[in-house]
Amino acid sequence: MSEKKSNSCSDPHFSTQKSAILGIWDQMQRLQTDFAFAQELGFYYTSPTWHTAQMILDLGTGNGYYLGKIAAQFPDKVYHGVDTSSELITIAKNEAGCEKVTFTHSNLFDVAGPYDFVLMRLLLQHLENIQIVLDHVASLTRPGGSALIVDAHDPFRYFHPDLPEFVEFFCAYAEHERKLGRDRRVTSRLEEAISKSPEWQMGDTIQLLIPSTIPGNLDLFTRTYSLLVDLVEQAGELQYDFLSVKDAWRRWSERPDAYTQVGLNLICLHRV
Ligand SMILES: C[S@@+](CC[C@H](N)C(=O)[O-])C[C@H]1O[C@@H](n2cnc3c(N)ncnc32)[C@H](O)[C@@H]1O
Repeated sequence: MSEKKSNSCSDPHFSTQKSAILGIWDQMQRLQTDFAFAQELGFYYTSPTWHTAQMILDLGTGNGYYLGKIAAQFPDKVYHGVDTSSELITIAKNEAGCEKVTFTHSNLFDVAGPYDFVLMRLLLQHLENIQIVLDHVASLTRPGGSALIVDAHDPFRYFHPDLPEFVEFFCAYAEHERKLGRDRRVTSRLEEAISKSPEWQMGDTIQLLIPSTIPGNLDLFTRTYSLLVDLVEQAGELQYDFLSVKDAWRRWSERPDAYTQVGLNLICLHRV
């Protein structure tokens, strides 16, 4: 199998031909957009290369929910989303709000450019070889254009009161992914890849801390984490007592003093 193919979706977490996994991703992509969207917008409004960009590409767009919300906020651009899941792309096409937002079922390596601005949101943590992804994305981005990577910043994850059952589950999941090359520490992997790439220059990085105290967020986090446990169970790679993790979460989230937060890194790259 070639290196490029190893970055295609053989990952069982994305077996969306199974209806249970499709349903999980369809919901989770909406929830993960809703709890972070308002704070992520700050990047777009303050980015000069975003304001001048016309042609936008979203790699790993999923059901297109995030891209649709971005397009509604910035209607003067043309947007194209691609994803390896034909089922999620079908949902994206059905929900596409206007002709300026289109979707294709495709592996990111089969996409051709040029685009002014490329988005990769919550994608790189699931891929093994960031270097070859960035090399390909450089070929899709016109010189002077940019790419935005939005991905996890796990050190910000915090629970009050402690929730060891979930923390241990999450560590086991992250460690399992890391062993398969799907390392969630995207920022440090990116820094290494960029240092070897003459086509990219590191731009600004914004660290977002998203607290459960924003109205509605505790519920969005609760539903997201419950779906994550379901997803890992459905993917079938990791053996765990999933029921006890969900029970512990439910008891914790019913406490009046429950507080949690998640972190996201927004990393902007400039195409030289
Ligand atoms: C965690 S989801 C993120 C979806 C969306 N970007 C969001 O933020 O809601 C990652 C998506 O990447 C897609 N994906 C994984 N590998 C891919 C590849 N090589 N090319 C295109 N899409 C890919 C998966 O099918 C999945 O829908």
